[in-house]
Amino acid sequence: MKFKILIILFCSAILLIKSCKKDQEILLSDTQTTPYVLSTKAGMPPFALPADNPLTNEGVLLGRMLFYDPIVSLDSSISCASCHRQDLAFSDGLKVGKGIRGQILGRNSMPLYNLMWQKKFFWDGRAKTLREQVLIPIQAHNEMDMNLYDLAVKLGKSKRYQSAFQNAFPNQAMSPEYVSKALEQFLVTLISFNAPIDQLHNRTDTLAVISASALRGLQMFMKPIENGGADCFHCHSNNPFFGNNSVSGSMVNNGLDFQFTDNGFGNATGNSLDNGKFKIPSLRNVAVSAPYMHDGRFDNLDEVMDFYSSGIKLNSPNLDINILSHGKQLNLTQQQKDDIVEFMKTLTDQSFLTNPAFKTPF
Ligand code: HEC
Ligand code: HEC
Repeated sequence: MKFKILIILFCSAILLIKSCKKDQEILLSDTQTTPYVLSTKAGMPPFALPADNPLTNEGVLLGRMLFYDPIVSLDSSISCASCHRQDLAFSDGLKVGKGIRGQILGRNSMPLYNLMWQKKFFWDGRAKTLREQVLIPIQAHNEMDMNLYDLAVKLGKSKRYQSAFQNAFPNQAMSPEYVSKALEQFLVTLISFNAPIDQLHNRTDTLAVISASALRGLQMFMKPIENGGADCFHCHSNNPFFGNNSVSGSMVNNGLDFQFTDNGFGNATGNSLDNGKFKIPSLRNVAVSAPYMHDGRFDNLDEVMDFYSSGIKLNSPNLDINILSHGKQLNLTQQQKDDIVEFMKTLTDQSFLTNPAFKTPF
């Protein structure tokens, strides 16, 4: 029996924007309430919200403002949203991220959704909580290059943030802690469970929801290699996430390289047995978050499928046992590769990519 719990959060969307010539600020002059819904549904895990940072409408709004506001960077040139665009599932379409003063980062900007269920953040899993994670790009010299205490001072001088902070965290001093709590509140609301694949629940007319090719792709994806499948589910299933397993936040080496230019998880743990391991990405919305892999090496899903079909480095150190145990390439047919790509496209959640509650509040 499925029952629906609806937690309605009202998130203020700012309608009218006026610029203030004096300090180049955009003043929030009018607000309108856009309700959005955090709802559980069949197949979706229960919420895992931070107990010591209860979501409030005002807290989420403050986090959303900080996410979209370049004020957070040293020269006010770049915001989180510069590298995390909603229409691209909060990735940026670039091979690797581009930070303050045009600096090129070493890794591909990750898409952002369903973060409340994750246990490790970044491609190398080096942050354990979102609250810890959000302060890293703010301070990184090649991303936003902002000292946290300078940021608190900068925000404290802004009338807009004075009132937004008071609304969100009454009687608290403006501090890095509350910047991270507000960002955490906004980030956990980014939930995506409304793709065509989610509409298959309790339906028998599968082909009315997804194409015959996508259905064949789903079957290949979920079938073990010994039964003629492509074995993707070993790492990317963990339904309903299609990856980045909520329980362990698995870090594995999927055989991209024989020699590593980026040790990934090994950098985070200092253990050479973790070299070459990276966070298993969720494949939800994957069709809009190209390019792929931690270094953005593949431009499209066809290239990804060519890799999994015949490009795996079987002699790669620390190669995951699920791939190693086969000891051979999958050698999929073109039709099989195309079918799996069609299946991955059924993971795109249009309502997530266009949800007004996640757009800029300015
Ligand atoms: C210059 C581009 C850039 C900016 C600015 C930026 N990010 Fe990121 N973001 C990235 C990249 C690149 C990664 C992956 C980095 C890595 O693995 O080392 C990432 C990873 C993340 C992750 C981890 C997601 C996961 O699934 O593990 C979160 C959350 C995140 N960013 C949120 C933010 C927030 C919040 C801000 C603003 C405070 C921000 N980012 C600013 C590029 C950027
Ligand atoms: C052994 C575990 C494992 C298996 C099996 C596996 N993957 Fe992956 N997959 C990963 C990891 C880890 C990454 C990220 C690797 C990196 O960036 O270094 C990844 C990345 C991807 C990406 C890129 C996602 C992004 O956001 O950049 C796609 C697409 C993908 N896999 C699809 C598949 C498909 C399709 C299959 C089956 C043919 C498959 N994977 C099998 C572990 C696995």
